[in-house]
Amino acid sequence: MNEETKKQINERYERQLDKGERFWPDTIFKDLIMSLGIFVLLILLATFVGIPAEAKADPSDTSYIPRPEWYFLFLFKFLALYGQLPLIGKIEWLATVLVPAVALGVLTLIPFIEKSPHRHYSKRVLPISIMSIMVVGIVLLTLMSEVPTVSEDGSKLIGTLQTIAGIFIPAAAYILFFVFKSNTRLLIWTTSLAALSMIILSGTVLALAPEKHGEEVEVATTLVDQIVAGQDLYSVHCTECHGDDGSVAIIAGVEGLEGEKITPINSRDVLYTITDPSMYEVIAYGRPNAGMPPFGKTYGGELSRSEIDYITIFMRYSWDDRFDAPEIPELFPPLAEGEAPSYDVHIQPIVKRYCISCHRPDKDNNNYLMTTYEEILTTGDNVANNIIAGDENSYLLQTIQEHVIMNPEKPDEEMIGVMPPSKALKPNVIEVFIRWIMNGMPKTAAEAGVLFQSPTPAP
Ligand code: HEC
Ligand code: HEC
Repeated sequence: MNEETKKQINERYERQLDKGERFWPDTIFKDLIMSLGIFVLLILLATFVGIPAEAKADPSDTSYIPRPEWYFLFLFKFLALYGQLPLIGKIEWLATVLVPAVALGVLTLIPFIEKSPHRHYSKRVLPISIMSIMVVGIVLLTLMSEVPTVSEDGSKLIGTLQTIAGIFIPAAAYILFFVFKSNTRLLIWTTSLAALSMIILSGTVLALAPEKHGEEVEVATTLVDQIVAGQDLYSVHCTECHGDDGSVAIIAGVEGLEGEKITPINSRDVLYTITDPSMYEVIAYGRPNAGMPPFGKTYGGELSRSEIDYITIFMRYSWDDRFDAPEIPELFPPLAEGEAPSYDVHIQPIVKRYCISCHRPDKDNNNYLMTTYEEILTTGDNVANNIIAGDENSYLLQTIQEHVIMNPEKPDEEMIGVMPPSKALKPNVIEVFIRWIMNGMPKTAAEAGVLFQSPTPAP
């Protein structure tokens, strides 16, 4: 900076002072007002919007993949892409220490590298270029952080595109900045072209990225949500042996455990003697000697810690007389006089509660799967007779009304036992099945010719 410009700047400063505007208190006051505004905004956001809680932490869950907070995702992605590079990809400290240190160093040193006294952006092209590529890179890496580096079919294309956009182009741009550092026009061209190609490539990556699926954790926050979540999980995993209400004392319809005597788990004997922590252990570890498999992920089962907690909460609030249950929404809206039930509104929740536990893949069930509308109508060893529109003698209707179906070829051999095997359905549930089949098994409420009525809470 020469003496001439120094004088100019000092003169301008004196003029500002004369106008009466001072750093203290004027500028500080403006800053305070702004910070207060942002603070209030944050409080409002936290109170009225918030972010959903994640599932409860489970230190024993080995399948959990930790991820950094969103503001570090770009670094996370950078490391993942760097690991894909040939040769230097294996030298970890380059990416974890050297590159971030150099980047921070450059940012810190920009004011010293570029000492131009001018504030107008046209006079500060080099620092603005360095910063722009850095910011564009950080934003794009953050956006791409959800996209896998190697796609599921093993193709590396998506990873290569990400590496070009996230590492090669920025690196090339920085080298060119160094070469062109005094040529404003070339700097602007380099920055624009680099930023544009990074954006286009990342856009392509995001467009090509496989749809995200699975792994969504359901988090129930209210007590009612937790009870309902627990009941759904119980229906799938436990009904098979313990019955929909935990009352089964003799197991029926389960391969290998037929006729096995068990203590009804809805009894005081079980609920009063097993505390919540030991209940977690019983469900997670199972009773391998008695035939109950382990359910906890730690022991090779399917349920996470919070899912087992929901089941325990469901059991307590439904069967343990020391707990007062809140109002739980009804399983299905009660049928009006002459109303035809539909799969979507009535049959699906009923099947999920009472049948799915056995009628899903890999269970003993005469190959009768009930997880979708199509499966209910088209699977089973006796598919031709299970469900016949308008026929009261459909096997399904007979078995749920406690009529055993005998083998037509060997009349003294039982072919299908009563359903569910261990405990009869309630009359209003049986009524829904009867009306559904008599009315031709409508799938949607519209097909059933009735408007959907939202489930009403129990009185
Ligand atoms: C394949 C059959 C089967 C399944 C599925 C099953 N259990 Fe069990 N469960 C058993 C058997 C058998 C016992 C031993 C009963 C006994 O000793 O009285 C048992 C015992 C229990 C006990 C302890 C009872 C006691 O007296 O100690 C609890 C609690 C229990 N089960 C809960 C569950 C829950 C919750 C689920 C679903 C996550 C479940 N079970 C799934 C078969 C099963
Ligand atoms: C405890 C396990 C269990 C539950 C719960 C259960 N089933 Fe079954 N289901 C079986 C088994 C096992 C068979 C094979 C026949 C037999 O052993 O009786 C079967 C067979 C059937 C069949 C005959 C399929 C065919 O093509 O031969 C129908 C229909 C059926 N179940 C309906 C139901 C309905 C409806 C429910 C729910 C309300 C239900 N089941 C709940 C175990 C179960």
